[in-house]
Amino acid sequence: MNDVGTHTFTTAHEDTLPTIEKKLHDLLLKVESTEFYRGLMSPEANPALLASTMKWVYKSIHSYQPHVTEATFTAVGRMPKHDEQLIKDMILQQVEEVEHADMALRDFLRLGGTEAEASTPPSPPCMAVAAMCRMLGEHQHPACYLGFMYIFEALTPIMSSRVQMLMDRSRYNAAAREFIDLHATEDIRHTDIISNVIRRLVAIEPGAANAVLHGFDCFAQVYPIPVWQSAFDIAKLEASLA
Ligand SMILES: [Fe+2]
Repeated sequence: MNDVGTHTFTTAHEDTLPTIEKKLHDLLLKVESTEFYRGLMSPEANPALLASTMKWVYKSIHSYQPHVTEATFTAVGRMPKHDEQLIKDMILQQVEEVEHADMALRDFLRLGGTEAEASTPPSPPCMAVAAMCRMLGEHQHPACYLGFMYIFEALTPIMSSRVQMLMDRSRYNAAAREFIDLHATEDIRHTDIISNVIRRLVAIEPGAANAVLHGFDCFAQVYPIPVWQSAFDIAKLEASLA
């Protein structure tokens, strides 16, 4: 495995999963060093800051998720068509995501967000997420989608379980935990599906391994740090005005 700039290349398809797991570990370390992460995790953190940050994270998910879904279905449609079960597994995982923009909207509204705020254009970080997924899913090797989907699926249960801990110790609105409580467990199963799909695809498709890693490297430039930092910045502003 070689790193050239931010591009990772592997010559052996067996290296793909260990490589992507290591990359996720490194991305998590970066998340843990951010201002928003340290700010939310601090025992002295204002509970209102968590609720407000989550409100704007939910707005972000509501903004970009439909684009992620469309880009992913396009990528699956462009896949090599030699393995029916492989395509079924890709579709199954995505079908279980299709209502999640609506779920994020429900929690956004439960936290005091308004319909008018929900209908504002995607923020710049959300535009970057949507555009990157569309570029990877629609215009690059279709296996690139597995790189961005791996970040979504493998990072979300880790972040969700840590956010659950913060919610438990603060006065967070229990009715606005639908998205986090579902994803703390569902995305563990989805990570297994994606890992299995990657393992089987790279074994039969030359070029897929490097495409998966390229998708990861590109998506890590825009997610999750800019999205969460942006939500935290708005939350700090709201807390200062309260
Ligand atoms: Fe998922």
